Amino acid sequence: MRLQDKVALITGGASGIGLATVEKFVAEGAKVVVADVNAERAATVADRLNADTPDSATSFGVDVSVFAEVEAAVQHAVDVFGRLDVIFNNAGIAGGKPLLEHDPAVDYEPMIRIDQDGVYYGILAAGRQFRAQGGGGVIISTSSIYGEQAAELSFTYSAAKAAVISFTRSAAYELAQYGTRAVAITPGRVGTAIINQFSDELKATFASEQLRGTMTEPEEIANVVAFLASDEANVINGTVVHVDDGYSV
Ligand code: NAI
Repeated sequence: MRLQDKVALITGGASGIGLATVEKFVAEGAKVVVADVNAERAATVADRLNADTPDSATSFGVDVSVFAEVEAAVQHAVDVFGRLDVIFNNAGIAGGKPLLEHDPAVDYEPMIRIDQDGVYYGILAAGRQFRAQGGGGVIISTSSIYGEQAAELSFTYSAAKAAVISFTRSAAYELAQYGTRAVAITPGRVGTAIINQFSDELKATFASEQLRGTMTEPEEIANVVAFLASDEANVINGTVVHVDDGYSV
């Protein structure tokens, strides 16, 4: 129970990596806000958790690309559970077109608003809450292997995910004075809805590029996030934790 009574806000908590992390956090004793643009699915997840572990979860419909909604999600954590200890900025979308086929309004702006601005808003809103509580708190944000390298069809995605790494470094630097930590994770190929949109052939290629030759399970990422959120990880700050099964070696 490494996260006993910690209060965590997990964006993208209704699916994939976020959902696995919500479940892991509750298993480790945390109280969670399941925050997702799909409010209905988030509510179903929270109901299921509360049925097994009473008062462990609440849900909140949030579009992370709107700052006021992210602020409201943080306030919801405080209203329901009295405080906030961890934010996992994990909501995101993927996909893309070749650069020269881009329509900026379709292929650049929405992804930057969700994958990049959404993380900035989470850091800002949670950071202010941590300071108001007297300090402390952990910010974990989901980047990607593509945040550190170029890849096919990933022009915008790579830019947004690189920004997540930069935000993490700067947040750690600026917020250390309040005792707040910030860490980014870079998943490789994880078997979730985001990756299931691709063909079986491409998915097999993705899996073969990792050292075990398989797709990573969302639960394997959640295990690392739980560790990073815990006090056991107090010296991990302002850095990137590669959770890519050796993709980047
Ligand atoms: P997923 O599609 O299963 O989960 C993403 C969740 O984010 C969904 O529940 C979705 O409703 C939510 N979401 C989307 N837009 C939102 C918005 N504007 N506001 C709030 N919630 C929103 O996909 P997965 O794989 O769990 O993705 C989680 C994160 O992991 C994303 O940031 C993704 O870029 C990142 N990632 C995933 C990898 C993979 O192989 N699956 C690899 C590297 C990074």
